[in-house]
Amino acid sequence: MDVKGKSVVITGGASGLGAGTAALFVEQGAKVAVFDRNLELAEAIAKSLGCLAVQCDVADEVSVEAALDKATTVNGAPRIFINCAGIDIIGRIATRGGGPQPLEALSQQIAVNLTGTFNICRLGADRVRQLERLDAEDQGVIVNVASAAGLDGPKGQTAYGATKAAVIGMTLPMARDLAAYGVRVVTIAPGVFNTPLAAQVLRGDPEEFDTGTLFPKRAGKPAEFAAMALHICKNSMLNGEVIRLDGGLRAI
Ligand SMILES: NC(=O)c1ccc[n+]([C@@H]2O[C@H](COP(=O)([O-])OP(=O)(O)OC[C@H]3O[C@@H](n4cnc5c(N)ncnc54)[C@H](O)[C@@H]3O)[C@@H](O)[C@H]2O)c1
Repeated sequence: MDVKGKSVVITGGASGLGAGTAALFVEQGAKVAVFDRNLELAEAIAKSLGCLAVQCDVADEVSVEAALDKATTVNGAPRIFINCAGIDIIGRIATRGGGPQPLEALSQQIAVNLTGTFNICRLGADRVRQLERLDAEDQGVIVNVASAAGLDGPKGQTAYGATKAAVIGMTLPMARDLAAYGVRVVTIAPGVFNTPLAAQVLRGDPEEFDTGTLFPKRAGKPAEFAAMALHICKNSMLNGEVIRLDGGLRAI
């Protein structure tokens, strides 16, 4: 799908991978709506890029419906959804010093990473399903964001990894469900990327961190993630697949 002139929703677009993707898609002529829980940050990014900021909690049905309405009014009905909103609460499931990990560590991450992703996908896809068909193969594209943690099982990431494994698990059945409507679904599983979230999880500057990549020996850049998201939109043969983007990292 050519992104030029298309209405594109980028969740978590106020920061990190989402903000990098918003920048590239605006550059490519897409009409971007940044959906983020953090309105202040979303507005600052939107102002700098020349796109739309919408306050949205991806886990909340009313909030997502209202945000989709706003994006539709301003940019036209969205056909592309890049779902970057996510949180990472690290911690081992039980430790000598700390006892069991609080149950909220799991429930909070399920709410954003799993429920939030599912919520945007179901509400967004149902709207695409009802649109007049484009004179093109692709009618819509969904790009979800998992993590290498959802495939490799690194320590301290039991809860986070479970939510990301769930996003990976949704990919193929969702692509099958939406095939009849010409909507493709692809998941990116990033390794370590230089974002505020990675800095918080790794407790430091991702530029300085040994990322465990084979090559290049550095954290990924949001622009490199964005380039993958753009390629997925453009390449109609990518569907129902999970793509690692990690410089050969295997997270332990
Ligand atoms: N950075 C990495 O190394 C890395 C690696 C693997 C996977 N990921 C995944 O990539 C995605 C983006 O991560 P990032 O590093 O850019 O993080 P980030 O913290 O820089 O950005 C995430 C954005 O999501 C927003 N957000 C959080 N909860 C939300 C909610 N309920 N509704 C709407 N917006 C919400 C935040 O406000 C923030 O702007 C996440 O899903 C993360 O798990 C990141």
